[in-house]
Amino acid sequence: MPFNTELTRRLGIKVPVVQGGMQWVGYAELASAVSNAGGLGILTALTQPTPEDLRKEIRRTKQMTKNPFGVNITLLPTINPPPYTEYAQVVLDEGIKIVETAGNSPGPIIKMLKEHGVIILHKCTTIRHAASAVKLGVDFLSIDGFECAGHVGEHDITNFILLSRARQSLGVPFIASGGFADGQGLAAALALGAEGINMGTRFMCTVEAPIHVKIKQAIVDAQETDTDLVLRRWKNTSRLFRNKATEAALKIEKESTTGEFKEVQPYVAGSRGRQVFINGDKDFGVWTAGQVIGLIHDIPTCNELLVRIEVEAVEAMDKSRKLYEPAGEGGNRQGYDQLPAKL
Ligand SMILES: Cc1cc2nc3c(=O)[nH]c(=O)nc-3n(C[C@H](O)[C@H](O)[C@H](O)COP(=O)(O)O)c2cc1C
Repeated sequence: MPFNTELTRRLGIKVPVVQGGMQWVGYAELASAVSNAGGLGILTALTQPTPEDLRKEIRRTKQMTKNPFGVNITLLPTINPPPYTEYAQVVLDEGIKIVETAGNSPGPIIKMLKEHGVIILHKCTTIRHAASAVKLGVDFLSIDGFECAGHVGEHDITNFILLSRARQSLGVPFIASGGFADGQGLAAALALGAEGINMGTRFMCTVEAPIHVKIKQAIVDAQETDTDLVLRRWKNTSRLFRNKATEAALKIEKESTTGEFKEVQPYVAGSRGRQVFINGDKDFGVWTAGQVIGLIHDIPTCNELLVRIEVEAVEAMDKSRKLYEPAGEGGNRQGYDQLPAKL
């Protein structure tokens, strides 16, 4: 029962499911497992300390899968930015054909990659940013609703609105990101006009995700209410797994009289978050997770997960189809065609 969407056709994948870039998680082990299972695995460029390390990681992934995989390049709002152009050059040198971009001012990197025919999936949380990315010539938008893990933006629009706005106004194929964990979710996204889904947190909780098993178990044990929104005061809102570190950060965020970022900085340091994935202590630092933790109840292999998603999606689509019995050929098509305006 192969899928046939713009995403599966353009990317050459079997199941319309992308594994989004994940800092300190998106290594060769996970990306290759997702691609071997028929989805699109993605390496996270900035998880590699230097562009040369990214080259080695790409080569390692090529040893582990013959299927297409991509690279995520996240453009951070930092004073000392990483050498993005050099990371992008490695992507081109290594013949990578698919890149997920995210973050601020992606124009120059997208231009550089598009000149070499790379397919760009650009992730954004607002229709305004999506429309700007369309002008840059991206191939797919990855529409990240407020449910998502990580940078949720400042507008708090959930996917039920965002995806239909994308369908109504963008004119470029899009995938749905944030809050997806199962085939019912995939079927719903396809019904809303998406060409597939992007998942982060669900893939963290798979056998192949190279993080400590205690963190996977913390996700299984958690509910949808167990995330916090941190750094809103500084307009850099992130959805994180609720723990002692997010509680301490939120206390400072609320009570600081100076409002200086440096007061909260030690509590939200990425280096401590990285340690969480290695030492398995969920309270050691802040780490990213989406509301979808409430839908995750096990730790399957990527292959088990994608087989399950495929079967569930097909069942959900069949079930929906059977909910409607057209009275005559084509149902009320004639009445619809006579309506004055439609989207
Ligand atoms: C641990 C973790 C790290 C992430 N790091 C990045 C990142 O570096 N760049 C990026 O574009 N997205 C990052 N994301 C977001 C995911 O790519 C994806 O958009 C998001 O997880 C979708 O929401 P979901 O978790 O509900 O599936 C991260 C997500 C997680 C869970």
